[in-house]
Amino acid sequence: MTTDDTSRRGPYETLFRRGLSRLDAEQAHRLTVSSLRAAQNLPGGRRLLRAAFATPDPLHDHRPARHVLGADHHSPLGLAAGFDKDGEVPLALLDLGFGHVEVGTVTAKPQPGNPRPRSFRLIPDRALINRMGFNNHGAEALARHLAAARRTERGQRAVIGVNIGKSKVTPLEDAAEDYRFSARLLAPYASYLAINVSSPNTPGLRDLQGVDMLRPVLEAVLDEVSRARRRLRRELPVLVKISPDLHDEDLRAVAALATDVGLSGVIATNTTIARPASLRTEPERLETIGAGGLSGPVLAERSLEVLRLLRAELPGEAAIISCGGVTTAADVRARLAAGADLVQGYTAMIYEGPGWPGRLARELGGEAWA
Ligand code: FNR
Repeated sequence: MTTDDTSRRGPYETLFRRGLSRLDAEQAHRLTVSSLRAAQNLPGGRRLLRAAFATPDPLHDHRPARHVLGADHHSPLGLAAGFDKDGEVPLALLDLGFGHVEVGTVTAKPQPGNPRPRSFRLIPDRALINRMGFNNHGAEALARHLAAARRTERGQRAVIGVNIGKSKVTPLEDAAEDYRFSARLLAPYASYLAINVSSPNTPGLRDLQGVDMLRPVLEAVLDEVSRARRRLRRELPVLVKISPDLHDEDLRAVAALATDVGLSGVIATNTTIARPASLRTEPERLETIGAGGLSGPVLAERSLEVLRLLRAELPGEAAIISCGGVTTAADVRARLAAGADLVQGYTAMIYEGPGWPGRLARELGGEAWA
């Protein structure tokens, strides 16, 4: 689908074509987050957001909800990690109509990420390639932001997952302690914790998906969470987020380990380092862009395959959050039908605009959901 085919989509498509798509992808993203922050901080601003996108008042939301991972979700669709890395605007994002928002990835130590440019649009594919490299202000800053959000009545009810990753300067053999540090700081504010071992943009990180390296990381976080649970007196589910590039036998091994250590579930999947032949973007452009994780509709087929395999391997009580190439309500229904408990998206929000989560929630309301 080209951008011209989609010009009938309305004002966001025009804004995207004439404005946002002419900016560097990261600049456009910063502009979006700043606008959401302005709306979040302005008195009545969040009400305006809800009016603009026709989403219900979350404090008086009478739509049926489904209880997943210890929380009530009014929509199966959440925002995937990486959009609000530092937890600056989770409540404004929920006002757009997401059922949950996953903030992060944050690392124990603040870090600048890779040199720019590091995020690229593949417009003919409605896809992205990024090599951000976990640019973030660190776990302490995120804890401060979430503490402020949780102080409000709305914030207490908000479903906010927290995604943690390994600091670049921490050697792989010390990874477990690095994750443990972030888990300790962030547990009080998280609806669930996601352990990210699948970003392609931190050297060596994906090696942590091998079960021998993964076990100590999972156990360190689970140990921290079981201490926190006693203080918080509530459940705090822990999930692991995995790559679509794992071979099927490695996926089975991760599923077996997740079951063995008692994880609450798996988020599948992160971006891929593959460049599928089905991409419409010219090979020369892909060559110029270089390394990074690919996201968007081209990821959908493998993401669905991984979901089916995991559903067959994991016990029924383990939740699966399916992510990768989800764009339409039909995509969400297909993931739920294949055994997903929740669904996430990121790239579709860039191409479809801020009305996307509310539109899908309305299309799904009361039918596949609840
Ligand atoms: C991401 N993603 C991501 N994932 C993660 O676990 N931590 C992160 O910090 C990021 N950062 C990030 C930045 C950018 C610019 C993109 C496009 C993606 C991956 C994201 O959460 C998701 O797993 C994939 O993008 C696949 O879903 P979509 O985009 O195809 O819906």
